[in-house]
Amino acid sequence: MNLWQSFQTNSKKVIHKWAHYFPIYERHLAEYRNKTITILEIGVSKGGSLQMWSDFFGPLATVVGIDIDPLCKAHEADGIHVRIGNQADTNFLDQIIKEFGVPDIVIDDGSHKMLDIVSSFEHLYPKLPKNGIYIVEDLHTAYWEEFGGGISNPSTFINVAKNFIDSLNADHSRGEIQPDFITRHTFSISFYDSVVVMQRGSIPYKKAPKIGI
Ligand SMILES: C[S@@+](CC[C@H](N)C(=O)[O-])C[C@H]1O[C@@H](n2cnc3c(N)ncnc32)[C@H](O)[C@@H]1O
Repeated sequence: MNLWQSFQTNSKKVIHKWAHYFPIYERHLAEYRNKTITILEIGVSKGGSLQMWSDFFGPLATVVGIDIDPLCKAHEADGIHVRIGNQADTNFLDQIIKEFGVPDIVIDDGSHKMLDIVSSFEHLYPKLPKNGIYIVEDLHTAYWEEFGGGISNPSTFINVAKNFIDSLNADHSRGEIQPDFITRHTFSISFYDSVVVMQRGSIPYKKAPKIGI
């Protein structure tokens, strides 16, 4: 059963996701199924998405949810761990890494406030494994003032991620852009309606050979 089918037929805990996220998840996450991975979801709420990830990734996956609401602790189950804290608290995030190891996949479905999103991303993304995935969802809030958003506000995650496109291409900028961590450790940046997916990866050499007769 794919993720969309399992969502549509869900009769367990409530899952709160936009419908168009499901093809995005399938595209970026399917290859991790039935592997020994750790997935960290920021934002537990009713616990349904943690259950969904556990079902999707299978019995080898460790699913960790973090939430600021202590009631979310009730959503622990076999293979599903919940820890209570603030996603913007980097000491708390370090404790999570100490306990469960570095996550292979991070899904930020937490406060949806720009400062929190950027803070968690800046702390966690550099720590991900070489092929890790970082998904930030519900980024429509990047356009909403009450979440710290605004189209011309440079600190929204959408605007921060737009600048990452230049970092990704820094090697071709004829010295105009200094290569940085994103240049050296990001394989792709995908933009969708309300979602950004960052895929870790490195390009060991950049060449464009002409091959053939
Ligand atoms: C959209 S809900 C999560 C939905 C859930 N992932 C799902 O798909 O069903 C957002 C959750 O983030 C939590 N939250 C809000 N601010 C937070 C923060 N600063 N740190 C951690 N969690 C936070 C809320 O308590 C809420 O449970």
